[in-house]
Amino acid sequence: MEKLVSRWCKNKPLPESYIFPPETRPGNLVVPTCNTIPVIDLSKAEGQNRTHIVQQILKAGQEYGFFQVVNHGVPESLMNESMDVFKEFFEMPWEDKAMLYSEDPKNRCRLSTSSVNYAREKIHHWRDNLRHPCHPLQDCIKHWPQKPIRYREVVATYTIEAKKLGLRILELVSEGLGLESRYFGDKLSESEILSINHYPPCPDPSLTLGIAKHCDPNLLTLLHQGDVSGLQVFNNGEWIGVEPLHNAFVVNIGNQLQIISNNKLKSVEHRVVTNSRVARTSAAFFIVPSKDSIIEPEKSLVDDAPFYRAFEFKDF
Ligand code: OGA
Ligand code: NI
Repeated sequence: MEKLVSRWCKNKPLPESYIFPPETRPGNLVVPTCNTIPVIDLSKAEGQNRTHIVQQILKAGQEYGFFQVVNHGVPESLMNESMDVFKEFFEMPWEDKAMLYSEDPKNRCRLSTSSVNYAREKIHHWRDNLRHPCHPLQDCIKHWPQKPIRYREVVATYTIEAKKLGLRILELVSEGLGLESRYFGDKLSESEILSINHYPPCPDPSLTLGIAKHCDPNLLTLLHQGDVSGLQVFNNGEWIGVEPLHNAFVVNIGNQLQIISNNKLKSVEHRVVTNSRVARTSAAFFIVPSKDSIIEPEKSLVDDAPFYRAFEFKDF
């Protein structure tokens, strides 16, 4: 618990153990804030523009692995309320969170810091993290934080809405790939994990990272990044910033969707930089295949030879 960045970082210089080697540290923090990652208006998907929206999604998934969605149907009030509750969680006195702190990745609801394995990693990451599964809700919710008092109620509604949105996007993706619209709707999207990141203000953002470059190992991610920038996506040999758009979700293709689409969609590397002014809180909603799902390139998308062999998701 004393390892949480938010516990000790106030008025302290950046410890040596948080300094990335020159080749992976962000260095110059001025990156082109992109107008390049496409912003897609989902309200247009239900009318005569549907095919156009489907094409926009496919193109963004191929070129960037990322896009943002607006007018997506998750009520603004619910997005604000959940972001408030996530921030309140990290602002609570540590006594109220201590029971959730764990260094065991198997824990069902876990407050931790840095990456998955603090003990084994060489360099620590400038973030604290709260993570828990959300499906099936009845089983999961009893493990969620009891404080803030409204956490369970607000977050349950939020995750139900986020799942609905995720399935809607997956339907559009299926249409774009020429698959039946429910293709991803069953086992391939059965599990859900909510991962809430908290990045306190950092004394030297040029030397460290909130999350080092990675691809998401799931099917699809819906990220609510609030109003503070920090997310960067690797594109055409450079890092580009993903501009925070109020009330938008950042959507990105996970490894499993890249595999199933036989590389028609790309799971792209991204990272999080910190800043010295304000804390940043983001919530990633991961849509994940069930453990026993067979993951393999969809036959109709294989022209020549498949790029991947079939495997059971739990072996990934
Ligand atoms: C993640 C992630 C981005 C962010 O949690 O996998 O990439 O902006 N988060 O916090
Ligand atoms: Ni990620």
